[in-house]
Amino acid sequence: MKNRISFISLSCLSPFLLFFALLANAGVTPPQAAIATAHPLATEAGQEILRAGGNAFDAAVAVTAVLGVVEPYGSGLGGGGFWLLHREADNFQVMVDGREKAPMAAYRDMYLDDKGDVISGASINGPLAAGIPGVPAAMAHIARKYGRLPLAKNLAPAIRLARGGFAVDEQYRRYAEMRLKTLQRFPATAKIFLYNNAVPPLGYLLKQEDLANTLESIVRSGKAGFYQGALANRLVDAVKKAGGIWSLDDLKNYNIVEREPVRTEYRGMQLISAAPPSSGGIALASMVQMLKQYDLEKLSTADRAHLIIEVMRRAYRDRAEYLGDSDFVDVPVARLTSTAYARELVKGIRMDEATPSTGLKPVGRPSGAGSDTTHFSILDKEGNRVAATVSVNYLFGSCFVVPGTGFLLNDEMDDFSAKPGVANAYGLIGAEANAIEPGKRPLSSMSPTFLEDNRGIAIIGTPGGSRIISMVLLAALQYAAGADAQSVVQLPRFHHQYMPDIVMFENDAFSEKTEQELALRGHVLKKQMSPYGGGFGHYGNMQAIVWDKHKNKVTAASDMRGIGAAVVFKQ
Ligand code: GLY
Repeated sequence: MKNRISFISLSCLSPFLLFFALLANAGVTPPQAAIATAHPLATEAGQEILRAGGNAFDAAVAVTAVLGVVEPYGSGLGGGGFWLLHREADNFQVMVDGREKAPMAAYRDMYLDDKGDVISGASINGPLAAGIPGVPAAMAHIARKYGRLPLAKNLAPAIRLARGGFAVDEQYRRYAEMRLKTLQRFPATAKIFLYNNAVPPLGYLLKQEDLANTLESIVRSGKAGFYQGALANRLVDAVKKAGGIWSLDDLKNYNIVEREPVRTEYRGMQLISAAPPSSGGIALASMVQMLKQYDLEKLSTADRAHLIIEVMRRAYRDRAEYLGDSDFVDVPVARLTSTAYARELVKGIRMDEATPSTGLKPVGRPSGAGSDTTHFSILDKEGNRVAATVSVNYLFGSCFVVPGTGFLLNDEMDDFSAKPGVANAYGLIGAEANAIEPGKRPLSSMSPTFLEDNRGIAIIGTPGGSRIISMVLLAALQYAAGADAQSVVQLPRFHHQYMPDIVMFENDAFSEKTEQELALRGHVLKKQMSPYGGGFGHYGNMQAIVWDKHKNKVTAASDMRGIGAAVVFKQ
């Protein structure tokens, strides 16, 4: 993966010229449709729906449902997510917030013991770790409000695959191995996701009859088929029996929210990304506002890397301090994303020396992996688009399945700060803004993003826990430099999240010389190790589509770090 950031020259359009450039592109439709997802069967399902007369929003529902079937370690009916939608006909853009909500019986210190220490694993394994899922409500909403096909049609591929089975792949086996002990702890889970209580062999046909029935219940009754009636009763009974705190009212009252995306501008490129309860859009906006104070093209490779690291450090620090569910806390969005604030922040950046994170302002410590969650990107023939990042949080979520329902409950409660200053599974720390409250949504890093400029558009996103936002930043800079979809996803990655004070990087992100120069400035560099042993690893699983309007060409790419598939086709 030799494709270091090049930041080819950018045309610094004035707002006036930008307006006319965008106007010239209005009404133009893409020559082809495109889909990029983390699993070939999900990509196929999306294609099937587009070919059957559905639009990008129908395909998004189908892909969401299929990913839940074939990547149960990453997403599913028991999880949540953000679906960023663009409707071409009226240039309407919205973020559907289907993030999980804390049950009403949740409380601030629910994961602390008598001494006030975090109880290890309590917010990760088992039903106490689960927020009220948002995926079923989001799918029903998107299909009803934005789609053209009936839910029965959109969910048909997922039902077929759940009932008929899918062949277990190497990725499934690796992730199941990592969570084996917890999967074995819950018999209803082991029965579905293991074989003879062990990781299923390669090619094993994994059938999910109960999941097919649950999907059919949603087809019959829409949102109510999940959140009310027999299924809801079954969920609440089993969760309570196993130590959880869900109630029937929690399910009945679950609501998705349509939110205005966070928008920012970087040298003629618009970034449209996730609003709170995601931290993604705000952190991205803050980082590009800081970067705008410099001319990246004029900097040496080491200077550019140093600057981007310093910018990440500052944005992730603010994430820890200020961000949370904006329905509950006052998130200073305008200030954090303003040029004036960025100018203040960059005053502390020295080009010859790394700023120690402890020198910024206290909030935290360590770090973790993040191969869970999933992302997909869709462009249809009319120019409608979807960027969606969906999750059950940690691999296989809480590993808890309610008998008879077929899906894993999330462990998204771990994304709250269980105790201010103490790191979660991703090493992220938080403050009061992200403390647990009944009905609140935990802060997320999921950042489905659209990029729009004079050249065209890009649809991007990735899983990867705390590293999602830094991956999307690097991808956005690469697109701004003129890249196609392949070049956007294969870019080697590096990451800094304020605490721990280290630069994580993929093996080929820096040349030896750049690594030395960064170390000389005081950066502590840590090569990303493979989570499976055997050397240096990679992280993320980006799914990207680029529609280059100048070339009248659509490109799509699924990250070579994963097993996904991208297609560009005549719809
Ligand atoms: N569960 C990962 C995230 O929302 O950031």
